[in-house]
Amino acid sequence: MRKLLMASMIATAASIVAAAALTSDYPKPGSVDRATGLEAWARIYEVASHPRCSNCHVGESGIPMWSGPSYGETRPHGMKIVAGESRIGNETLPCGTCHVKSDRPQTIPHAAPRANGDWQLAPAGAGWFGRSSNWICEQLRDPARNGGMDYLKLANHAGHDVILLWAWSPGPGREPAPYSNAEHRMDIHTWGAAGQPCPPE
Ligand code: HEC
Ligand code: HEC
Repeated sequence: MRKLLMASMIATAASIVAAAALTSDYPKPGSVDRATGLEAWARIYEVASHPRCSNCHVGESGIPMWSGPSYGETRPHGMKIVAGESRIGNETLPCGTCHVKSDRPQTIPHAAPRANGDWQLAPAGAGWFGRSSNWICEQLRDPARNGGMDYLKLANHAGHDVILLWAWSPGPGREPAPYSNAEHRMDIHTWGAAGQPCPPE
């Protein structure tokens, strides 16, 4: 028993040290060259354009998408769902009717995804679905188009937004977003420290 307790205390201490090391390892602004920054961006784009993110980041249409291996053919969300100005379906059928707020993990394939937050579409200005790497990069580095965020705020958002975190643990059947959330945040820091370079169109 005592042994077990010791082991778990050591494990906890080790993980605190690891987390601290990771935070202090974030590169300082100006310390990363452009080529490395662009490599980090390429991974950020892989995440942003993955169905777990882009199905919800659809732009002006307000119509969420069903795409990715679990859906077969790419198509608009079934049942004529439209998010409307509210982005949450208030004008028609609220998203929360099916996408309930819950901290319990997803267990049933093809059930409506749920997260511990209000399920809703991303702002129209962040419509990434089908967009190029250059387009998404330009949108994300422009505070006037991304809700006023510099790269540090973007990295922080990526660690805290509950719907976004769902994309890495979407439950059975759905392919999670690539890399891990920690790697994604590190990539935002690396890209930011290089001055947020964007690839050509
Ligand atoms: C269920 C829908 C949904 C999914 C899935 C989703 N998002 Fe979002 N996203 C939102 C909403 C809603 C907002 C606005 C509210 C906020 O900022 O928290 C948002 C805002 C953002 C922003 C803020 C910047 C901007 O341009 O407005 C970023 C960056 C972002 N999401 C990244 C992601 C990434 C990366 C993924 C996948 C790992 C993802 N999101 C998955 C709904 C979603
Ligand atoms: C009548 C029930 C219902 C309503 C209302 C509804 N959805 Fe869905 N939604 C579903 C179901 C069921 C799925 C999963 C289908 C599957 O996996 O085959 C889904 C899947 C999704 C997905 C794809 C997630 C992924 O990447 O796998 C998004 C995005 C989405 N819904 C957004 C919305 C938004 C935004 C609203 C409100 C404007 C909304 N939904 C309203 C039932 C609903």
